[in-house]
Amino acid sequence: MGILIQNGTVVTAEGSRRADVLIDGERIEQVAPRIDGSEHRIVDAEGLLVMPGGIDVHTHLDMPFGGTVSADDYRTGTIAAAVGGTTSVIDFALQSRGHSLAEALETWLAKSRGKACVDYSLHMAITDLGADGATLDEMEAMVATGVTSFKLFMAYPNVLMIDDGLMFRVMQRAAALNALCCIHAENGSAIDVVVAQMLAEGKTAPHFHAHSRSAKAEAEATHRAIALAEMTGCAVYIVHLSNEEALRELKHAQRHYDRALAETCTQYLVLSIEDQMPGESWDESKFVFTPPLREKKNQEPLWRALDDGTLSVVSTDHCPFTTEQKAMGRGDFSKIPNGGPGIENRLQVLWNFGVNSGRISPERFVELTSTAPARIFGMTQKGELKPGKDADILLWDPKQRYTIQAATQCMATDYNMFEGWTVQGNAKHVFSRGELVVEDGNWIGETGRGRFIARAANAGGFA
Ligand code: URP
Ligand code: ZN
Ligand code: ZN
Ligand code: ZN
Repeated sequence: MGILIQNGTVVTAEGSRRADVLIDGERIEQVAPRIDGSEHRIVDAEGLLVMPGGIDVHTHLDMPFGGTVSADDYRTGTIAAAVGGTTSVIDFALQSRGHSLAEALETWLAKSRGKACVDYSLHMAITDLGADGATLDEMEAMVATGVTSFKLFMAYPNVLMIDDGLMFRVMQRAAALNALCCIHAENGSAIDVVVAQMLAEGKTAPHFHAHSRSAKAEAEATHRAIALAEMTGCAVYIVHLSNEEALRELKHAQRHYDRALAETCTQYLVLSIEDQMPGESWDESKFVFTPPLREKKNQEPLWRALDDGTLSVVSTDHCPFTTEQKAMGRGDFSKIPNGGPGIENRLQVLWNFGVNSGRISPERFVELTSTAPARIFGMTQKGELKPGKDADILLWDPKQRYTIQAATQCMATDYNMFEGWTVQGNAKHVFSRGELVVEDGNWIGETGRGRFIARAANAGGFA
């Protein structure tokens, strides 16, 4: 006996149709216009959209950063993901300088063990080449374990930032391994000069964080990262691209180098300096993340780039800190832990402002939030509703109106970046590997049921 999802509208990246979906154990058995339900448990999806579960490829759970640790661990973070319709995440393991990639991997697997509630994978952030370039040799072992993307930070000097030589060598090795390089593209050295000068002038309030990190600093690094990738033949994925100038660099590069991909994040599409950071109060520290909020004029170009394919993915860069943690930076914006919560609201916000407003189609929504992430990051079992794939299935109610509130959220922060917003469209039921884990919007699964996803090395989907 399987589970039969009946009477719904199946929405995939390719198209929408009335169809039933049969789940057998952890996998999808069949998708067809009408499947006989006499032997199966029926889930009625009348009026609902049936989509592949969301994949958030950019999260920071239980991560030491800015002198503290991000507020969601693997339990709260992945429950929040599931309730929001996301059934897989790719989190970042960080290499500590002077230590191996293997140590970083073990550290992050230990964080997730017994806690992860949906399936998860890891990118590996490289911060140190090690003695005689030992890290480069370790990359092969990482790929063999299913960690097939490497993250490099061009920002955060003295903490995570690498130089161009290191980036180039990692890209060369990644190209040979068919791995993908994910880049935080900002000119960290120039930004740090501006930050120091602002603080010396007494500009210490949260909004100066945004003014200290210019769109140009992001655009310059975007250009440089893609140019170096092109020199090596490595597939490159720019994370959290936030503004029109960086977008222009990406578009230009894509004309001659097709292995250049990028994501944007929910917050850059709907929040702005003008609306959230006018420079009036400490409360704006909630919106201190990196890259920072941009001027509103950047939003429509980002939406257009999602629609025309210049941008491939919408992730969250979920890196939550409570207001108490944010208070570490009172009197000095550079000490405010950088990051915001968003894992729970990605699909609601993208549906409401993307699909409901006609900026993207429901099919493109599925592509951006699930199918493209699976393809680009080598998650061969995920991202599609096809026989043999994992039964990670989202039953989406496009009519449900929902008011976003910190008071009722699963994320561990005491605020929400979209507080009080009423959106239309919400996750109703969610299956993860065939198991109903969210019912009527409530988490009902077991803690620790999530599994590590070993990913294929496919050069960002180009191999
Ligand atoms: O502000 C952010 N984004 N914090 C997390 C680290 C990063 O740069 O993604
Ligand atoms: Zn970043
Ligand atoms: Zn300002
Ligand atoms: Zn990030």
